[in-house]
Amino acid sequence: MVARPLAPPGQTPPPQRTYLPQQASPPRQVSAPQPVRRPGPEVIQAVQRSCRAVEDRPVRLAEVFYDHLFQMAPATRSMFSEDMTGQMQKMTDTLLAAIAQISAQDTAGLEVVLHRMGREHYERYHVEPEHYMYVAHALTRAVRDVADWEYTSYLSSCWIAVIQWISEHMIAGTRAAMAAPVIPGPR
Ligand code: HEM
Repeated sequence: MVARPLAPPGQTPPPQRTYLPQQASPPRQVSAPQPVRRPGPEVIQAVQRSCRAVEDRPVRLAEVFYDHLFQMAPATRSMFSEDMTGQMQKMTDTLLAAIAQISAQDTAGLEVVLHRMGREHYERYHVEPEHYMYVAHALTRAVRDVADWEYTSYLSSCWIAVIQWISEHMIAGTRAAMAAPVIPGPR
């Protein structure tokens, strides 16, 4: 399984926001984000080693992940399509690509992509900051279930650190969207 790089900022045109309401809603009050430290190289290496262990069954990881997510937060099931096949692949690819890029010296481009994804998750799917906590828990449980290496509390904390960092940047995009919704222009 090869992690495809996420598109750097500026190279992908913004999607048509046809899913946005025609009337902009008033800005909502949102609290300031909590800073999360970028995971260090040893944390990334541990997570990447564990990714290699599921290389031949990445979609299995996604299946178990969504099982845990829907058990923990049943209300999130209706946010997704009935057929999850494509979504499972997209989620896995994006996650692995992001993990591969966190180890880069400069993560500014990745941070912009994640910020945009957070905004889009809010605008398209109504994903709110609280939802990200479920994703972190569901993912660490899925890694524990699927992996055939010895699962340790250290590895668990490495995954949590990585997911928290990714989530923080997506949540920053979510909060920006909540505070200042995009008003669609003439089409
Ligand atoms: C680590 C954080 C996350 C990553 C990497 C991620 C990744 C993705 C990706 C790549 C897509 C496909 C987007 C597209 O087709 O354009 C997607 C769609 C989606 N995501 Fe996420 N996501 C994350 C967090 C969340 C959270 C917290 C929720 C809420 C429970 C969520 C709910 C959804 C929904 C509802 C869709 C649309 C699915 C559909 O079309 O059936 N995501 N996500």
